[in-house]
Amino acid sequence: MELLEKIRKEKATIAIIGLGYVGLPLSIAFLNKNFKVIGLELDQTKIDTLKKGESYLNHIPSEEISSYVSKKKFIVSKNFKNITKADVVIICVPTPLNKFREPDLGPVLSSASKIQKFLKKGQLIILESSTYPGTTDDVLTKELEKSNLKANEEFFLAYSPEREDPGNKKFSTSTIPKIVGADTFFSRKLASELYKKVISDVVTVSSSRTAEATKLTENIFRSVNIALVNELKTIYDVMEIDIWEVIEAAATKPFGYMPFYPGPGLGGHCIPIDPFYLTYKAREFEVPTKFIELAGEINTSMPHFVLKKVIDSLSLVSGKPIRGAKILIIGMAYKNDIADLRESPSLTLAKLLKQNKAKVSYHDNFIPVLPSLEGFSELAGMKSISLQKNVIDKFDAILVITNHSYIDFDLIAQNAKLIIDTRNALKNLKSNATIIKA
Ligand SMILES: NC(=O)c1ccc[n+]([C@@H]2O[C@H](COP(=O)([O-])OP(=O)(O)OC[C@H]3O[C@@H](n4cnc5c(N)ncnc54)[C@H](O)[C@@H]3O)[C@@H](O)[C@H]2O)c1
Repeated sequence: MELLEKIRKEKATIAIIGLGYVGLPLSIAFLNKNFKVIGLELDQTKIDTLKKGESYLNHIPSEEISSYVSKKKFIVSKNFKNITKADVVIICVPTPLNKFREPDLGPVLSSASKIQKFLKKGQLIILESSTYPGTTDDVLTKELEKSNLKANEEFFLAYSPEREDPGNKKFSTSTIPKIVGADTFFSRKLASELYKKVISDVVTVSSSRTAEATKLTENIFRSVNIALVNELKTIYDVMEIDIWEVIEAAATKPFGYMPFYPGPGLGGHCIPIDPFYLTYKAREFEVPTKFIELAGEINTSMPHFVLKKVIDSLSLVSGKPIRGAKILIIGMAYKNDIADLRESPSLTLAKLLKQNKAKVSYHDNFIPVLPSLEGFSELAGMKSISLQKNVIDKFDAILVITNHSYIDFDLIAQNAKLIIDTRNALKNLKSNATIIKA
């Protein structure tokens, strides 16, 4: 009751573990409502940047951070002892796959192991990271109960999946409805009252497992539907039918159809990863997950489909082999208008093109230099080149992978010889170039 009162009066202190794409905007949402926030992060560069009042996410301006840091309303630290000062602890750490494509709960477990050392009676712990059903009430509970405190009796536990969509101009953290699930009435009450302070629409579900399954269902729905249009793309391609025109026409149906768009492959920390959290868990129950696996197979084959298009169109248009061909990739980030490289199909395509001995360059103002990334060491240090007439016309092919809104596609259309367009970015543009949709 004491915590409920503090939440209602906006007097609770919120610790947020992991200040990335999810944790940082969430911190700001709480700060904007007058809560005190303690951000706990492992990455010293991020801590140093925030302590200077600066942002490292291009869609979050530094001004949203600096005053809170200087007024000490936003404390940023590596020291988990700060948990003793918090009323609520929210975990926003990554949930990647390991090299066997199985869930890696390492960051969640290491956070829980640090929390339990400082856990106090009456605190509320919320997991936001995407994960399989049972993580909160089984894995997390076991770790936190090492504190000798009982979950949902002496401390409270909830799961609330994040639906962050970085760069989305229509929705932000506060305006995206939020799911909250917990296994007892009071934990649900505490967590939902907390989020109601910062989010316009909070939807409670009966358990943490239901909330975990809801998040995975949303992302599997996207993965399967994207796989479907990607497969349709390959079918219509041989029939010489434009998938983009088909989708545009189909989307005029006012019921029973929702448009999804094909692309060069999945990217980001969610859609290519989360479905496999469920397939992993389903194995324990011996239930098949054919649909999800098939969608994954189709989506991961897309960069190879695009590569074949590049090879075939070079040969058809200029009689050139891929070996030695100069290719300019437009867009390195996995989606438009953000600087996120995680699982980006551009990386896979740059690697595949290099393996085929093409001379690869890229343009992306959001990513001036490619860092060293696991699995892509051959791309480390590559620099974005500027887009100018006399640069574009030197390339044998331009491969459009990410259609950032600042990119002058007309300039590309006017000066390229061959354009392979995976995003329909050249739609309606006049050009003397050969444009191949892929
Ligand atoms: N990025 C999105 O748009 C998005 C959307 C919905 C859900 N999610 C989910 O939210 C979770 C976080 O994703 P993200 O995109 O914010 O990841 P991120 O990599 O951007 O941020 C995670 C942060 O956690 C830090 N970290 C890692 N381990 C830590 C630890 N043990 N203690 C403290 N800090 C630690 C990292 O240094 C990093 O700054 C994931 O489960 C993801 O699937 C992400």
